[in-house]
Amino acid sequence: MIKIKKIIDKKNKSKIICLTAYSKNFASEIDKYADITLVGDSLGSVLYNYSTTREVTLDEMINHSKSVRLGVKKSLMVVDMPFKTYETNISALSNAKKIIKETKCDAVKLEGGKKIIKQIKFLIKNKIPVMGHLGLLPQTAKGKFKSKGNTPKEKKQLLNDAMLLQKAGVFSIVLECVKTSIAKEITKYLNIPTIGIGSSVYCDGQVLVTDDLLGLNETKIKFVKKFLNLKKYVNLGLKKFVYEVKSKKYPSKKYSY
Ligand code: KIV
Repeated sequence: MIKIKKIIDKKNKSKIICLTAYSKNFASEIDKYADITLVGDSLGSVLYNYSTTREVTLDEMINHSKSVRLGVKKSLMVVDMPFKTYETNISALSNAKKIIKETKCDAVKLEGGKKIIKQIKFLIKNKIPVMGHLGLLPQTAKGKFKSKGNTPKEKKQLLNDAMLLQKAGVFSIVLECVKTSIAKEITKYLNIPTIGIGSSVYCDGQVLVTDDLLGLNETKIKFVKKFLNLKKYVNLGLKKFVYEVKSKKYPSKKYSY
């Protein structure tokens, strides 16, 4: 709870950094910089080539989260509840409890507003910390991914959903692909922080899929900026290994028993 309060307290003071992690080694580096480490169900497309996050299972989320837990020491660890694991109050609570018990994460994230508000309220009533997610909702999106907030109806729905989630007690809301002016308005009206992904600089924090920003995952999504070409460095290391093995330079005496 102290960690969650710290995240909320950052609103209007300093930007919140949220990054995805799917395993220990990355998590331990990410943890040095992130306020929130998110085990996102984006792991379905990034690691398993699933065509949608709907294919990600509870067991997959739990196994990756257990690994991430080993690397996360200081940041708030949030785990995505996969598709169809929070359809009713009872299933939402038993699955959230399972995730928290097995992974020792600090909170769960659910996609949606009014449609799942009953489940969100029920989780919070049962002391499960919840992060919201509005805008583009990959678990239920149909067809090509599009930005949100482009019509008066979408704008009204986004604002209503954000207010509903805040009232229900979520500690923060991810805004995915929300039009700049709407993300700005939501961020201004809420007392809890918004974490943007493709939703402008006006959000209280930003999240990206770490594999995307490091250039490990080929993607042409508009909001993804490649901050490093990590593939280049991985290849460099691998090539050196191959060269030294083939030229019998490795393993020298120093590396042999
Ligand atoms: O699944 C995920 O990684 C996410 C973030 C991109 C917000 O939900």
